[in-house]
Amino acid sequence: MKGLILSGGLGTRLLPFTLALPKQLIPVANKPVLWYILDAFKKIGIKEIGVVVGENKEVIATKMNEVLHQDLKLQFIVQEKPLGLAHAVKTAAPFLHNSDFVMILGDNLFDESLEEALKIFSEEKADALLFLTPVRDPRRYGIAEVKEGQIISLEEKPTDPRSNYAVMGIYFFKNSIFEAIERTTASRRGELEITDAIQELINAGRKVVPYIYPGWWMDVGRPEDVLKANRLLLNLLTPDSSCLVAPTAMVSGSTLKGPLIIGENCTIVDSVIGPYTSVGNGSSIKGSSVENSVLFEKVTIQGFKGTIMDSIIGQDTAIYEDSSGKNIKKFFLGAGSTLTF
Ligand code: G1P
Repeated sequence: MKGLILSGGLGTRLLPFTLALPKQLIPVANKPVLWYILDAFKKIGIKEIGVVVGENKEVIATKMNEVLHQDLKLQFIVQEKPLGLAHAVKTAAPFLHNSDFVMILGDNLFDESLEEALKIFSEEKADALLFLTPVRDPRRYGIAEVKEGQIISLEEKPTDPRSNYAVMGIYFFKNSIFEAIERTTASRRGELEITDAIQELINAGRKVVPYIYPGWWMDVGRPEDVLKANRLLLNLLTPDSSCLVAPTAMVSGSTLKGPLIIGENCTIVDSVIGPYTSVGNGSSIKGSSVENSVLFEKVTIQGFKGTIMDSIIGQDTAIYEDSSGKNIKKFFLGAGSTLTF
């Protein structure tokens, strides 16, 4: 069994953060979204992982290789144009060869392991297994219709949905998916949809089973998703609402309110941090207050008199002094900005 991560998306809904960092590398509880996916693969013993990338290849490959989890073998596969998820799978065919594989969309965050689904996939001898979860707005997703333990139809972003079971972005496949992709034609949005390819499998009488996902899941596509995912993960990491402070961080004269995480080599002086705040490696906060926020690496905040709340602050960004008093401010600041009040 191999792993495949589709990581070519540009993350336009996450601008300005994605100007400097692809969305799959946005840190949540101080760890890029992609790392959680690698962890999920590791837990079920998948070591060979293909990462489909696009224009973002350089930065994703560099960052992934920097932190390379030694026990994993990563291969980067370039999809020249974003022509759809099924097209990405087709591009990865030489890497996947004849192996069964688990495919995960690179912006998916979920809290459970893949173990149970793997068991069902093998026991059922299915051609495909799809993680499904009920959603409030089925028009935004690929939607599956389930009958007697099998998926009987699928539709990508239907105007008139037949169910509220959304395709989450975690799929198990046998190599029969490749013939199905060959029979698939481009959708209205001009892409080769994986949803349509799986429908082709169903049309050919192949077995496609659902895995109704019991845990929480989200695709981290918008800034508010980053803050929400950060809260969810901090709750999971610190069930007792404690503070995770790296041993190399220096904290003095400050109040820390968990759950929170402070990364390596941070300096926190005369400040109030948390709850629900992640402070990236190498950041420095002095005489300031930060709550419910995500700070990427090397952020500087100095002498901010009010409270920085519900904010996302990109790498190498600095905020100096606020003479305007004790008000609350919300910032979405991209990398490398400087704010002086
Ligand atoms: C993709 C899939 C869709 C799935 C969704 C999950 O849509 O095509 O079937 O429900 O991911 O996030 P996209 O986010 O590319 O529009």
